[in-house]
Amino acid sequence: MNIQDKMKDVVKDYVMSDAVLDTIRANMEPMEALMAYYRCAIMEIETKFRVLNEQFSLQYDRNPIETIKSRTKSIESLAKKVRNKKIPLSVQSIEENINDIAGVRVICGFPEDIYMLADCLLKQDDITLIERKDYIANPKPNGYRSLHLIVSVPIFLKDEKKNMKVEVQLRTIAMDFWASLEHKIRYKKNLSEDVQEKLAQELLYCAEQSADLDLRMQNIRNELG
Ligand code: GTP
Ligand code: MG
Repeated sequence: MNIQDKMKDVVKDYVMSDAVLDTIRANMEPMEALMAYYRCAIMEIETKFRVLNEQFSLQYDRNPIETIKSRTKSIESLAKKVRNKKIPLSVQSIEENINDIAGVRVICGFPEDIYMLADCLLKQDDITLIERKDYIANPKPNGYRSLHLIVSVPIFLKDEKKNMKVEVQLRTIAMDFWASLEHKIRYKKNLSEDVQEKLAQELLYCAEQSADLDLRMQNIRNELG
């Protein structure tokens, strides 16, 4: 029997044994439940923003929200984060230490609407603010702008209420456009250092120009009343 066939036998007899499969299953079930709870928390937060958008549409005949994009973190990037943060590999530790498993990105036309929507969300009596990072007032050195909130929101299950953390990113269309371009460049391999440096400078310039444009368009809207 050659070595490959032997390996296959080992995998079949030991790695795929009932005991190992049972262990995998026992650990997967709570993890799958946790991911489902995060999807529920996303539904709760999305609904809150949709309700606010609806009210503004009725009352002021305008929609502060252009789009909402939500996602749960992939298992691969969750695993990477657990490894990098050197936290214990348990459902409880993941829930306690990782804040961005559920992510809701709210994209607005104008910068003022970002703060207005964040205030409306944080005023709600079932929302708890855990962390707030204002990268609009204090942009990152590369030019990144957005308002980040980590909030806790309850989800109501059959017999219990669970508080889940959600990362909410609020940004304008221009900030979102910039962030997706920057993200693309960041993951582009094989760029020489010179090119990287040039693109970083160009990106910073674009971030400043688009922040200026956001403010000017905001002013035009405010003048229209
Ligand atoms: P991480 O989630 O590990 O980054 O932790 P952190 O607490 O430093 O998060 P931070 O609030 O600074 O950023 C969280 C998220 O914002 C990221 O996962 C991205 O989605 C987004 N983000 C932050 N900085 C940048 C940036 O420079 N460029 C882009 N494109 N997105 C960014
Ligand atoms: Mg993150």
